[in-house]
Amino acid sequence: MFSHLQPTPIDPILGLMAAYKEDPNPLKVDLGVGVYKDEQGHTAVLDCVKKAEALRLKNEDSKTYIGMAGDLSFNSHIEKLAFGQHKVLLSGRVTTAHTPGGTGALRVAAEFIKKANPDATVWVTNPTWANHISLFQAAGLKVKEYSYYDWDTKGLKFDAMLTELAQVPAGDVVLVHACCHNPSGMDLNFEQWKQFAHLAKEKGFTPLVDMAYQGFGLGLEEDTQGLRYLADLVEELILCSSCSKNFGLYRERIGACSIVTADSKTTEIAKSVLLSVVRSIYSMPPAHGAIIVSHILDSQELTALWHQELAVMRNRINDYRQLIIDKFIAEGITQDFSFITKQHGMFSFLGINKEQIERLRKEFSIYMVGSSRVSISGLNHSNIDYFAKAMAQVLKG
Ligand code: LMR
Repeated sequence: MFSHLQPTPIDPILGLMAAYKEDPNPLKVDLGVGVYKDEQGHTAVLDCVKKAEALRLKNEDSKTYIGMAGDLSFNSHIEKLAFGQHKVLLSGRVTTAHTPGGTGALRVAAEFIKKANPDATVWVTNPTWANHISLFQAAGLKVKEYSYYDWDTKGLKFDAMLTELAQVPAGDVVLVHACCHNPSGMDLNFEQWKQFAHLAKEKGFTPLVDMAYQGFGLGLEEDTQGLRYLADLVEELILCSSCSKNFGLYRERIGACSIVTADSKTTEIAKSVLLSVVRSIYSMPPAHGAIIVSHILDSQELTALWHQELAVMRNRINDYRQLIIDKFIAEGITQDFSFITKQHGMFSFLGINKEQIERLRKEFSIYMVGSSRVSISGLNHSNIDYFAKAMAQVLKG
């Protein structure tokens, strides 16, 4: 039966990683995958993680199964990071399962949605993270897009977004990015979040908030503002979180799927459904990443160190947003790229065309996603001039 298989196209983001690795050009620049790199172009293990790992090595006394919901201390920490002292937590309306990464959280959410409403359509921003669409489709859900990013103004199509979402029926799910929209970097401001939340309440669709970059936008608390306002208003929502970026735990695959329901009784039922979903996919999650995060958040000292290290990553990316513009101007680029400083998180859309992206890769070994999404931390003081010069060349035509 395997002889009938057809080759499947390589993932547009992970495929770039492989192509970059194989490129022998010593000047190559990786602006592809959303992984933080420091000034040396290295994705280092955070110090707070190193310390927590040392603690874990010393204290771990068993490798027995941890259960379908994963690490309960991690789950409680991740709920507090997202919701703070919000009433949804205080009234027992949230249940969380720790998952293998943010992608695992989304897949668990997809299977949960299927159990709640097999006919649900999941609405995603146009554009969105490429894997959102395939992931929900793979779970057997219908996926449709709503207007979000405006390629002409480099801002949001917010009016069109509201108009389209006003047609979404109760029982459907609308995916929003909590912060650091992937791929565009353009986020809803708080006023826009409020309007979205009121619409969700009025129309009765269920928001699914994807929070893969908490702390990379404006700050750990600030990045939850929209989510918390939404939770003020709606009775039900789904939150998918990830610790890949903010704890730098990419390969440990640690994330969480949280379900918020209308009351604690429904939450108990939702929990049983969530756990049955987990059991039927991977039984229970790997423990390591969750225990590291728990150790960090259990300790005031490690939490303070984490906050510091997260701020260093966030600030470096923000500094480079301005630096890119300065370097472009220094290279004589006259197009307006000032929108880069209005975006948040790891990514920026440069708004250049396919041919220019192709030339950057072929002639200069500069790798970015085909939508012109660049992962900004791939730039550093050793390669930013090379990047700006290459951009000047391809923009000249
Ligand atoms: C990205 O968007 O680059 C990251 O979220 C990594 C991934 O899995 O695609």
